[in-house]
Amino acid sequence: MTQPTTPERRIFSGIKPTGRLTLGNHLGALRRFVDLQHEVRCLFSVVDLHALTVDHDPARLRALTREAATLYLAAGLDPSVCVLFRQGDVPLHAELSYLLECTAHVGELGRMIQYKEKGRDRPQTRVSLFTYPVLMAADILAYRATEVPVGDDQRQHVELARDLAARFNRTYGPVLVVPEMTPAPVAARVMDLQDPTRKMSKEGPDDALGAIRLLDPPDVVRRKVLRAVTDSGAHVRYDVQTQPGVANLLDILGGCTGENDLHALAERYSSYGSLKRDVADAVIALLTPLQKRYADLAANAGEVDAVLRRGAEQAIEIAAPTLTDAKRAMGLGG
Ligand code: TRP
Repeated sequence: MTQPTTPERRIFSGIKPTGRLTLGNHLGALRRFVDLQHEVRCLFSVVDLHALTVDHDPARLRALTREAATLYLAAGLDPSVCVLFRQGDVPLHAELSYLLECTAHVGELGRMIQYKEKGRDRPQTRVSLFTYPVLMAADILAYRATEVPVGDDQRQHVELARDLAARFNRTYGPVLVVPEMTPAPVAARVMDLQDPTRKMSKEGPDDALGAIRLLDPPDVVRRKVLRAVTDSGAHVRYDVQTQPGVANLLDILGGCTGENDLHALAERYSSYGSLKRDVADAVIALLTPLQKRYADLAANAGEVDAVLRRGAEQAIEIAAPTLTDAKRAMGLGG
């Protein structure tokens, strides 16, 4: 396939500030990023433009964006090693997105599951919800990322980014790097505590019982865990099919403590109550240092501002050549 001579490994990932971050975001993504940043060139973005695709409140969006960026830092992302920025601070995402819209087809966007579920057939749907996957492709392709670590729900979007990059290169010449999706390990999927067949989501009401927020105080974490839905069976067993609630608690416990053998872990418990108590303790132990760092950072707003400003400058520096090449290849400019 024609593409520019591949640069070194480079990772891009984004998080949409549409809700307060959860334990699922930490165990499934953030924590991995903290390790990855030392192995690979990494760019992480709080993709605020994507939060405009559905009804939103401007003040809440600004607060959620800032909270997410601060949590990334609190979790251990090191701005001297990786690039952390707000998407809205880097204008060329929207510009490259337009060029890619001129590469994408209405048919393929109409097949996107999220659009079909959330927007199609509703006249008031924002146009941006339809074009959203193209903007996501621009996020990735602008940085010539080689890898995109995302959850399985984003697979179709990463596939589209790959298709658009390949089509662009075939049509206009080798400008874009075709990225690979690097899926999260299965055990990293944290399910909703009230409905363990659904992924724990940051969206939904702030006080939803099924989602542990990274900034929940210990008593709130404990209450949510103790009220988690289990099953009617009496035994603690790791069986996702028949005991999804208990399996999720074991996943969380293993995720927090590093224990990988969940069947062995299950054998140590004779009651749901004692399992829940240990889960609550483990989550609180994981979140306490993160919350402490968050409080320190939040008290020093200038520091977060400076990180984001610097991050946006670095992002622009990395992405600008891609945009220049793409424009030239398409016939823009002199
Ligand atoms: N669409 C992603 C989500 O909803 C967020 C996202 C936007 C993203 N741009 C991205 C993820 C680029 C990875 C790479 O979770």
